[in-house]
Amino acid sequence: MDIISDPLLFQQQASTWRRLGETTALVPTMGAFHEGHLSLMRYAKTQARKVMVSLFVNPSQFGPSEDLSAYPRDLDRDVHLAQEAGVDLLFNPRPEAMYALDHATWVEVPSLARDLCGRTRPVHFRGVATVVVKLLNLAQPTLAVFGEKDWQQLAIIKRLARDLFIPTHIVGRPIVRDEDGLALSSRNAYLTPEERAMAPALSQGLRQAKAWVREGLTRSKDLLDRLALFYASDLALARVDYLRLVDPENLTPVEEIRQPALLAAAVYLGRARLIDNILIPV
Ligand code: PAJ
Repeated sequence: MDIISDPLLFQQQASTWRRLGETTALVPTMGAFHEGHLSLMRYAKTQARKVMVSLFVNPSQFGPSEDLSAYPRDLDRDVHLAQEAGVDLLFNPRPEAMYALDHATWVEVPSLARDLCGRTRPVHFRGVATVVVKLLNLAQPTLAVFGEKDWQQLAIIKRLARDLFIPTHIVGRPIVRDEDGLALSSRNAYLTPEERAMAPALSQGLRQAKAWVREGLTRSKDLLDRLALFYASDLALARVDYLRLVDPENLTPVEEIRQPALLAAAVYLGRARLIDNILIPV
């Protein structure tokens, strides 16, 4: 596996592969790999001859009071895991190489970024969209793979790729969970044992809500009220940030379930902010 930190060398290697007729896949990450990340890499390897992974803790997607400096980092371990997953190239740039001192260009998708996580993280998706466009322009891959755990992020990236005619196929992959249902996340490392023991209630609530819909509870307000009560008892250590039922593509609120909808939740639990979501079929 090659490890490259210079963006121009990364661009050259990717373009050499393209010229040789290889299909290429990019998996953007911020490192601290877990099975969620590795599942994306392994999937990428089934779809493309050459798999590129970017490992970059992107400063511009962290708000001033967020965890940029505390974000877990372990390059040696990540290199080893990426290699085992069949990755061909790891791109690990320095922040100065990705953002020139006079960097002035931002990519924004306000209609999709305003609600849900955008409410409490107002600059987050601008940072994500901008860095992902930079990475797609460097790699120009056949496909780029993202996790459905960050559903809003995935919706934004699909939209910007379409709107900006970026010739990369954006692929979403299912959430990888621990045995008890907690969605894997690098930030789960922030949980105390007591918080970790309670955390699976987040996904249990979503599955429970899906069952309530099956039993006939199809008004959004009723569903979300009932889910809030569930969390107040079973996730008592947490503070709910939001519970929303939205259109899976536009992320606009759904009042009554008549077509498939996305139920999304975010909670603060100790030092961690946990997100999860579930698709509700009709
Ligand atoms: P990061 O949080 O490292 O996640 C990298 C990719 O792994 C994202 O596509 C994310 O959705 C996916 N992922 C995380 N946990 C997952 C899980 N439990 N199951 C499946 N996929 C999972 O998301 C980012 O980094 C950044 O915002 C990035 C897109 C790299 C831009 O900086």
